[in-house]
Formats: sequence, C-alpha cells, structure tokens
Amino acid sequence: MNKPKRYTITTALPYTNGPIHIGHLAGVYVPADIYARYLRLTGNDVAFIGGSDEHGVPITIKAKNEGVSPQDIVDKYHAIIKKSFVDFGITFDNYSRTSAPIHHETASEFFKTLNDKGAFIEETSEQLYDAEANQFLADRFVVGTCPKCGNEEAYGDQCEKCGTSLNATDLINPKSAITGNVPTLKQTKHWFLPLDKHEAFLKEWILEGHKKDWKPNVYGQVKSWIDDGLRPRAVTRDLDWGIPVPAEGGEGKVLYVWFDAPIGYISSTKEWAAREGKDWELYWKDKDTKLVHFIGKDNIVFHCIIFPAMLKAEGSYILPDNVPANEFLNLEGNKLSTSKNWAVWLPEYLEDFPGQQDVLRYALNANAPETKDNDFTWKDFQARNNNELVAIFGNFINRVVVLTNKYYEGIVPAPSDFTQVDAETLAAIKAYPDVIASSIERYRFREAGQELMNLARLGNKYLADEEPWKTIKVDESRTKTIMYVALQIASALATLCEPFLPFTSEKLKNILKLRHNEEQNDEVISNKKEIATTHKNESRNDAVSWNDVSTKKELLPANHKIGKAELLFSKIEDDTIQKQLDKLEASKKANEIANTAVEAQKETITFEDFTKLDIRVGTILEAEKMPKTKKLLKLKVDTGIDTRTIVSGIAESFSAEEVIGKRVTVLVNLAPRALRGVESQGMILMTETADGKLVFVNPDDAEVGNGLQVS
Ligand code: MF3
Ligand code: ZN
Repeated sequence: MNKPKRYTITTALPYTNGPIHIGHLAGVYVPADIYARYLRLTGNDVAFIGGSDEHGVPITIKAKNEGVSPQDIVDKYHAIIKKSFVDFGITFDNYSRTSAPIHHETASEFFKTLNDKGAFIEETSEQLYDAEANQFLADRFVVGTCPKCGNEEAYGDQCEKCGTSLNATDLINPKSAITGNVPTLKQTKHWFLPLDKHEAFLKEWILEGHKKDWKPNVYGQVKSWIDDGLRPRAVTRDLDWGIPVPAEGGEGKVLYVWFDAPIGYISSTKEWAAREGKDWELYWKDKDTKLVHFIGKDNIVFHCIIFPAMLKAEGSYILPDNVPANEFLNLEGNKLSTSKNWAVWLPEYLEDFPGQQDVLRYALNANAPETKDNDFTWKDFQARNNNELVAIFGNFINRVVVLTNKYYEGIVPAPSDFTQVDAETLAAIKAYPDVIASSIERYRFREAGQELMNLARLGNKYLADEEPWKTIKVDESRTKTIMYVALQIASALATLCEPFLPFTSEKLKNILKLRHNEEQNDEVISNKKEIATTHKNESRNDAVSWNDVSTKKELLPANHKIGKAELLFSKIEDDTIQKQLDKLEASKKANEIANTAVEAQKETITFEDFTKLDIRVGTILEAEKMPKTKKLLKLKVDTGIDTRTIVSGIAESFSAEEVIGKRVTVLVNLAPRALRGVESQGMILMTETADGKLVFVNPDDAEVGNGLQVS
C-alpha cells in the first residue's frame, strides 16, 4: 500500500481467566508496542487498540470451578491485566473490555447488519449435548481427538496442537468437559457464516494478494485451510454468558465468542475516538488506513479467515494489511500453561524485578518466536541482561557520561578536525534509523533489536579504539573530538532505543538532558504510569526525533550540559535466577500432586457386604513368570491357613525374584478362576503410584494369617 494516512494496530484481546504471562508478551504485546512506539516516533497517526476478551467458555468454566459468577472472574482479571500492561509500559491508546455496553451494542449491531443482509444461514442441526449438565457442549466444553492430527485433547472449536479450527461434532470420541460423559446429540438452531461462499475472495485476497508480504508461517496456515475447503461455521451458541443473539428465535442463545471478540477491536476504537474527539470510522473504513493485527499462531484462522469474511460481508470495512502472528514461546523446555501454572506471570515479574521492565522486554524480543517456537529460559534472560544490556549498552553510556563529567564538568566539548574513523562513525550513526526502521516495518523485531545493540557495540568499539582516557594526557583537542563523537552515539541511542527499551530511553534522555521541557523530567521518570499513558500521536516533544538522528547535523551540540551518570542496568546474580527456577520447580511439584488422579468413590455398600470379604496377611514363598504373558506372575503364597497358588498381574512392575519373601495382603475367599490354564485361588491387594507403578498394600508389622480388622 502507499504511505498510509494512519495506522490501526490491534492486539489479541486476552481472555480474562488469568493474568498475562511471558507467552502473551513475546507473542503479541511486546512486538505490537515496539511497532506502535516506532510509528509514533516517526510522526504517524496511530490507534493502538487493546482490551479484555470476557466472554467464552474458559471464563464460565473458571467461574464454575471457583463457585463465583463469570462477571466476578472478568472483573478481577480485567483489573489485574490492565494494570500490569500499564506498569509494563504497553502504550495502548485504549484498553477496553467486551462486557462494556459499547461493545455489546457494536457486536449486536454488526450481527443484525449481517443477518439483515442475508449473510448467515440459519440451520437446525444436531449438536453435542450433556444431559446430566443439561447443556449443549461447544468449544471448550467438549474435548476429544482431533480428526486431523490425532491430538486427544482437542477442543470443540480448535485443536491447539495443529491449530485446526474445528466444529464440536468433528471431534472423535468427544467427552463433556463438565461431567466427563459421552455427549448425546440434540437438535438446536444456529446461525452459520458460510465461509465456503467467501472462498474465492479469500483466495484472491490472501493467496494471491499477500503471498509476498505475509509471514510464511501465517500464509502457510491460511493456505492449508483454504486448500482443505472452507465450511459454514456457527456464530451462535446455546450458552447464557455472552451477548444475546439479536434475532427472532435467538432467545437463550449468545453470539459465539470468536464472533464478538474481534469486533471488540472496533468497540475499543470507538471508545477511544469518543474520548479523544476523533472519528473512529476513519480508522476502520478509510482505505488509506493500515490495519495490522498482532496475534499468536492459535488465532490465525480467526483473524485471517473468519473476521475478514465478517468484515467483507458487512461491506464498509477495510481488511488487515498484515497479520504478523508469532509462534509459541515455551518456558524452560515445556509448553506454557495457565492451568498448570507453568508460566512467568507479568504481575509477579513486576514485583520480583521492580524497575526492570526493559530487561524482560529486551529478553523476550531477542528470543521472540517469530519464525518458530522458542524457549524462554531464566539463564538466557540473565545472559541477555548481563552480557548485552549491562556489558554493552549500559557500559558504553556509563563511560561516556562519566568521562564527560570528569573531563568537562558535563559540558559537551567542541570538536576539531574529524579523522576518517570519526567521519565513518558519524555516518554510521545516521544510517541506523533506516536500518532499524526497515526491520520493524517488515515485522522483524528481533533483528531490529539486534541492530539497536549493534549501535551500542559501535560506541564501545569506538571508545576502545580511540582511548580518550589515554589521549587526555597528551592531546586535549583530540580528546574533545572523541568525546563529542561518543556523545552523538549516546544521543542516537537514547532516541532509537525508545520502542525497545522505553524506560531506559526516558532515563537516558534525562541523563543527557535531551528534552525541551526539562522541569518535566523528574516527574515523568518517577511515574511509570505516565510513561505508559502519556504519549501523543504527534512525534514526541523530544529534542531529537527518530528521523533527526539521520538528518540533524549534530544531536548533542557543543556546550550543551548533560547530567550526572546513573546506572541504566545492573547485573543479575545467580541467586536471583535460582529463586525463579525454584518457583517453577515448586509449581511442577504442586502439579504432580494435583494430577495424581483420585478415583471417584464407588457405590455405597453395607457393613454386611464388607464382612463377606476375608482379607489376610500372607507371604510370597515362590514366584515365577507365566510363560508367553507380559503381565502375569504365578505365586505360591502362605496365607496362614494354607499355601496356595495365586496368579497375579504384576509382572510389569516386579520381577519374580524381587517379590519372593514379600509380606502382602490377600483376598482369600474369592472364587477360584483359571488364568491361562492355571487356577488362581485369591488376589493380592495392590495400589498404584502417580506414574502407574504398582505397589503392594504392605502389612509389614502384621503376622501371617492375621485377618483384616475394621475399626
Ligand atoms: N481471547 C483470545 C485468546 O486469548 C484472543 C481473542 S482475539 C480477538 O486466544 F480478536 F478475538 F479479540
Ligand atoms: Zn490437531
């Protein structure tokens, strides 16, 4: 597209069933915020849109589990999520929520418009139903085997393993997530979006139109869905939590969460525009607006196929120019999981690492899953901080500021003649804005971050080669020139690091006294919230803008007075990292305990039933493996009454040798039965460990022949 007049940047609306974790940040919010900040710095008109996704089954399930209402759940997490974004410096122009009245109205209207246009098919069909829970099962209320990849934990709307979007009735061996029952089928009416009818348009728009500029992982997924053939998709549900279906026959039904949630981008834009006195429609309907959706890979089908089909069917909206979806971030080798508490939670990070937002932003971006799944490790986090932020960026700035203060009382010295190295260095600085911008504009944020670090490397190398601490003893005028050049690099870094390291940028601008309005500085620095929320769409009122770095003759003129040195980053020690690893270890343990499935209690029996069982303590005298079987051992057991043969299915847990001499509990009055031709006269009582290994119910202190007592 030609140079856009404005940008609408959306970020996947997080489900409000838990706090934000590093997977969300690396996949969506960090790259989106880098992009938005960069665009603002280069003078663009930007609407950076976020909000909470408050409908959908996960929230209902969480509410049920905690015995509270869905509204309680969303109120709690919306507040937590919103605050943590502010504290982390994600500069949304608006952060809304899908339970807001403006969203209910907007989504309702959208549905009505499509319905009036005849864009839906209404169909009564058989859907999965849980008679015990008295509820239809859709989306995450039903779990089963993915027909495409065989994953046994696919949900009714999507397989998270292969990303395929599913209808609940596609699942093989479906099971209710509420009761565990096998669902029955029951008739119900729903509104379907006939995606098949949009196939031609989707092919032309994406497969032909965006082959070159969309990321291969996104393009590939979309292509495979289209190649598989698109089918009508229900956009309503038989649930009570959500936006009521605004149509005849819609009573007791709500809009499918994936129908309403992306419309949340529009509602949030409306909310922002109303507050700021802007025209929201320009941001969604003008063809000179560039619309970009930042999402994770599990959201691709919804943003590249379903939502565009909805927008197209409505008719007055623009379509996304790009959907730079990321792959997944794992944590220490395992998949991130909210329910298993396998995550680094943003609110906890902010508490454990106060003032160190930029370290996480940097580490996540440096290791972002842009082209493939990646692993976050605390060791890597530590190394990124200690070896890059501290040793390269921080070290360079510190040397420049300390020396300028030491040699010239903080006053930028006037240079004399530039050497060739000086001239090359000054020219190299001027090239950086375009280099970094080009990476950002192609959604290569990792590469952009590395380029920024290369500028700091250039600074370090320049100082190390020119050695002002040596020249100061012999050549006053050369030293001034060196320090002048180094200060230009520091100033360029202050501006160019803003999208990546916004808190550091503020600190550095403050140290270098780079702002016009100097009284404001301390206030801005001390108030993290301000940084996140005070940004104008015009380029900021800085002395140096992004483009100035290339075009201005000098960034820090001679005679400008800078401030005192202040550490930008500090070393993270091993024990700090160990604490985080311990936290993860603890959550792994807690999970293992929680996952030890406890079986439901069997049907009640009477005391008389129980006394029928004759259970005694015995000793295994002999044992041998039954030929041609995997599981069976043939045992001779001394029961105190007699010595008898018992065939026991324990050979996968024990060898014959190791059970000889074991004290065991035996059910002795069980009717004998033949197993592989051998008559078994009783049963050994066993139990099972979490990993499926059998263990004896072992009455070590009892005498052989003792019966089981109840008390
Ligand atoms: N809540 C969804 C998720 O976490 C994302 C919704 S994105 C939107 O996967 F477009 F629907 F808003
Ligand atoms: Zn699958």
